Amino acid sequence: MSKLELKDLRKNYGSASVVDGVSLQLRRGELVTLLGPSGCGKTTTLRMIAGFIEPSAGAILVDGREISSPTRSVAPEHRGMSMIFQSYAIWPNMTVAENVGFGLQVRKTPAAETAQRVKEMLDVVKLGPYAQRYPAELSGGQQQRVALARAMIVRPEVLLLDEPLSNLDANLREEMAAEIRRLHDEFRFTTVYVTHDQTEAMAISDRIAVLHQGRLEQIDTPWNLYNRPQTPFVAGFIGKTNLVQGAVQGGHMRLDGLPDGIPLQAGLEGDRASLQASIRPQSLYLGSGPDGAVPLGAVSVVGRTYLGEYWHYLVQPSAGGAPLKVHAAPSLVLEIGQQSMVYVDPHAVAAVQ
Ligand SMILES: Nc1ncnc2c1ncn2[C@@H]1O[C@H](COP(=O)(O)OP(=O)(O)OP(=O)(O)O)[C@@H](O)[C@H]1O
Ligand SMILES: [Mg+2]
Repeated sequence: MSKLELKDLRKNYGSASVVDGVSLQLRRGELVTLLGPSGCGKTTTLRMIAGFIEPSAGAILVDGREISSPTRSVAPEHRGMSMIFQSYAIWPNMTVAENVGFGLQVRKTPAAETAQRVKEMLDVVKLGPYAQRYPAELSGGQQQRVALARAMIVRPEVLLLDEPLSNLDANLREEMAAEIRRLHDEFRFTTVYVTHDQTEAMAISDRIAVLHQGRLEQIDTPWNLYNRPQTPFVAGFIGKTNLVQGAVQGGHMRLDGLPDGIPLQAGLEGDRASLQASIRPQSLYLGSGPDGAVPLGAVSVVGRTYLGEYWHYLVQPSAGGAPLKVHAAPSLVLEIGQQSMVYVDPHAVAAVQ
């Protein structure tokens, strides 16, 4: 049975459907991220799970029991959930230890047990030496860890984290993302994590649910989302890609502007008059390809940027069609206007439409 299930969850404000029929199931101990651009309905979904917003339709179940539906709603404090809000708040007039222990105090946990658990939790988030400090005396990352410790100490059935790293700079964000994953591996709280940052989502999640305009586009493992995107939106949102129009005919996929067909891979049988394919820039090769790569046609270089770890080339197929983004090794130097052949790894072509 799923630990947490959303069934056709909806939220309307006036005539706007900000959450538009989202269904998903989390296994016990799973970390699923809601990922999508600003305004796609992530916070609204999370707040419905927590019980701070009533759904317009649909149901939320924990361990198979309905905690929220149009006819029934369990109060937030009885849902066994902890939430860190997008603008996470820790109390400025309480020390680190008091902040972390607050949830236990509210639950009338005996003082000795509270002290012991606070000490353990502060060790977990590596804040032991800071127990008596006030939030104003901490760095952003340390405050973030206080918020995490405070949410986890009550051992929630479900942990809800809304952009918990948004206030941090890029380096600290990466460090804290790894930290959250480590804590998750240790405690295995069933967790719904919200972010608009795809790298963060990839680093942290068991599965990622991509939301777009209130709808669930795809829920999948990071590997599948990247390599087997099912919609143009997912292909474009998770990493850089080339979206190319084409067709499938007689066992080959043909792409606009590229005369040579690509032998079909599993899952793409049957002719299709029109499709859109997603090809990552690093799955295209200039000049020659590795074993298994197939030629697509002649191109000329129309743009290039040297990024240290690789070249980012923009190439124009000679037979027409849209330019393609290609990543190449730093040693492969091509001049603007130079002619070349483009090759593709056929396993790396995903039909997205
Ligand atoms: N109380 C409200 N009344 C009307 N519209 C609302 C209300 N709350 C949210 N919205 C709208 O619902 C949409 C989804 O908002 P939500 O906060 O869920 O987005 P989000 O995905 O969390 O975005 P962000 O990444 O910016 O935090 C937005 O267009 C927002 O303007
Ligand atoms: Mg939000």
